[in-house]
Amino acid sequence: MFNSISESDLEFFCSAIGTTYVITSEDQLLRCASDHTEDFVYKPEVVLQPANAKEISELLCYCNEQNIAVTPRGAGTGLSGGALPIFGGVCLDTKRLNQILTIDEQNFQVITEPGVITEELQQQVRLHGLMYPPDPASRGSCFIGGNIAENSGGPRAVKYGVVKDYVLNLEVVLPNGEIIWTGANVLKNATGYNLTQLIVGSEGTLGVVTKIVLRLIPAVQHDLLMLVPFRSAEAACEAVNAIMLNGIMPSALEFMERDAIVWAMDFVQHSAVPLASDIQAHLLVEVDGNDSELLYKEMEKISELLSRFDIGDILFADSHEQKQMLWNLRRKVGEAVKSNSVYKEEDTVVPRAALPQLLRAVKRIGAEYGFHSVCYGHAGDGNLHINIVKQNMSEEDWLGKLPLGIRKLFEEVVKLGGTISGEHGIGLVQKNYLDVVFSETQIRLMKEIKRVFDPNGILNPGKIFV
Ligand code: LAC
Ligand code: ZN
Repeated sequence: MFNSISESDLEFFCSAIGTTYVITSEDQLLRCASDHTEDFVYKPEVVLQPANAKEISELLCYCNEQNIAVTPRGAGTGLSGGALPIFGGVCLDTKRLNQILTIDEQNFQVITEPGVITEELQQQVRLHGLMYPPDPASRGSCFIGGNIAENSGGPRAVKYGVVKDYVLNLEVVLPNGEIIWTGANVLKNATGYNLTQLIVGSEGTLGVVTKIVLRLIPAVQHDLLMLVPFRSAEAACEAVNAIMLNGIMPSALEFMERDAIVWAMDFVQHSAVPLASDIQAHLLVEVDGNDSELLYKEMEKISELLSRFDIGDILFADSHEQKQMLWNLRRKVGEAVKSNSVYKEEDTVVPRAALPQLLRAVKRIGAEYGFHSVCYGHAGDGNLHINIVKQNMSEEDWLGKLPLGIRKLFEEVVKLGGTISGEHGIGLVQKNYLDVVFSETQIRLMKEIKRVFDPNGILNPGKIFV
């Protein structure tokens, strides 16, 4: 379907970006063969590391003419296989586009290249009294460009929104090599179709983002954190809505089933929280703001409200270290599950009030199809990460029966008014289920958009659509 890379292709790449950055060594091909999704390995034929939009433009223009598949890559922390070069070809590694270009204190904006680590970006803008809220669990290693591609979220989304809510404008190299800006560096924009938001979450299938303009907010000064143990996981989900309805907006409201926290504690050395044998789940609740007294009152109000549920002793994080420890445990759940068993991660999201029903459905369908799941996620957003662990499931059931169970689960999610990915994307692993959420017309419209941007289908082929 695509041409494989020839000697003359390699010569062209060397002339365009320099020999050093045209990489065919086995270790680098392997590095770019996987991301954080399950245990997939798809080796590219070559890894290219261009330095800027102009070089990317030359590369794409060439690959488009030569019918060579190009898979853009950020830090490779994705969870739907978006960066996997499933047809071989070129891995377009964006790691050299790693500069924060401008921090505009006057207008609360930052202009950055895509290969900047998200946490680094957050720290840099913080030095200017500003805050970039989206904080995916992988923020210490993921790139901001990948966050744009997947429209990432994270714990703070409940109060501050997701990546799309901060993107004002993007420089994008189209598959034919043309370079465009999608919008303007303004807070309001009612000018034509919204190309910016079309690129956000397009999973590297429409163009390669080379500059990103983000809106920022004034940095928030204080936060308080508590971990609340529940004797019933469903009750924990019910408590989520009770918290949301009391007039206080938490800056994080995370849910973890018992196994999630137990496995994270095993995985992260020197981290431990008291865990009585009858505890089935936890909520991690954070409030933030600039008036610390007010925050204490909010926490009191939330804990009072939670005391109506069947809970154990609340753990209030009383130092910076303890907050770090709790957040680290929460952020490591995904990796902990991965280290524990072969697994599949589903990223379901429902209207928040339907979260208890979603959890019930997961367990019911799990019992019916014989799979065990560990659930956790951004309960305040109704976003539940369902990690289906293989454990002693037979290979036959894992490959044959499980997809039917997942389909059934997704149908249930849609019935609850939800959808199949909140923040991880469709990529490779969810594309077979797209018809559960979209009609033929919706899928046709999306495919036609793809064709307008990428008529030859060279950019990140095999993703989103079957
Ligand atoms: C998390 C990632 C998996 O919330 O989205 O930990
Ligand atoms: Zn998440």
